[in-house]
Amino acid sequence: MTVLVVGATGKVAGQLVSNLQNEDIPLRLLVRNGEKAKKAFGEETSKLRYVIGQLADEKVLEVAFSGVDVAFLGLGTSQEQEALERGLIDAVGRHATAHVVRLSVLASNAEATYEVARRHGALDAHLEKSGLSHTLLKPSYFMSNLLLAAASISSSSRWYGAIPTGLVAMIDTRDVGDAAAAVIRDPSLRGSSYDLTGPQAVSLPEAAEFISATVGRSVQYVSTDEDALRKGYAARGVPAWLADYALGIDRGMQAGDHAKVTQTVRTLTGKPPRTLQAFLAENKSAFAPV
Ligand SMILES: NC(=O)c1ccc[n+]([C@@H]2O[C@H](COP(=O)([O-])OP(=O)(O)OC[C@H]3O[C@@H](n4cnc5c(N)ncnc54)[C@H](OP(=O)(O)O)[C@@H]3O)[C@@H](O)[C@H]2O)c1
Repeated sequence: MTVLVVGATGKVAGQLVSNLQNEDIPLRLLVRNGEKAKKAFGEETSKLRYVIGQLADEKVLEVAFSGVDVAFLGLGTSQEQEALERGLIDAVGRHATAHVVRLSVLASNAEATYEVARRHGALDAHLEKSGLSHTLLKPSYFMSNLLLAAASISSSSRWYGAIPTGLVAMIDTRDVGDAAAAVIRDPSLRGSSYDLTGPQAVSLPEAAEFISATVGRSVQYVSTDEDALRKGYAARGVPAWLADYALGIDRGMQAGDHAKVTQTVRTLTGKPPRTLQAFLAENKSAFAPV
């Protein structure tokens, strides 16, 4: 079995690659940044091949997909993501008879109220329409999103958003990578759509209490309006499209889109999902005062 991983230098796909490397499964990694990938996973071996290039380049895609048995699509967020992933799905169909495992998002829906869930819904539907055999992994809000607030927490012991009361069953990206490895390892798990969440749903003010307990000082989540948040993003140089995505995600979280807790991580991996408290303890230094 040869497994192609797209997005290997990312959080979820990186964890997947580490798992599969440990199990000696032949891997082909399609990345745009070869140096970054080799730093993470080492030089090429008979069990590890790199295909380095742009994801819209048909020659690159032909080399990457030819003869693979499983393709994991774990692209990060960008304005190009939808077009690139449509191209990747179409390229699988042209160059291989492969099972596709796609990283989507919990509550993805082509009619969703916010951009990221809508785009994933459209891509899930494109994959379904392609006729390729496939598995969808639909994780909740990543715990690692809290690290995006680390600079603000370090400097002011506060961070800002628009999720005053919505409950969010945050997941550790390593659990998503572990679930992906389980699906790739065991063909009997393939062909389904899996809602993946952490072990508990918390509000953002409760997450602030967990951070406070971890760092030993009072940290607050300050809920504010979208205009103020948009100005804050602009002041920090965040592009308008990304600010729009983030504000949409906050709306979805406040509406409870990621409030449900599932047992799917445990079912797939045989282990309970990592807790938010454990994640924060591991990342405590990121929130240290400056
Ligand atoms: N954040 C959340 O709370 C959350 C929750 C559920 C689902 N998701 C979904 O999970 C996915 C992100 O997963 P992740 O955090 O593991 O991803 P990530 O770490 O941000 O990046 C994954 C990979 O995508 C590559 N990449 C990004 N843009 C690219 C482009 N334009 N061309 C080529 N490669 C590109 C990155 O390459 P480089 O290393 O070279 O940059 C990296 O290898 C998104 O689809 C997101 O919607 C996110």
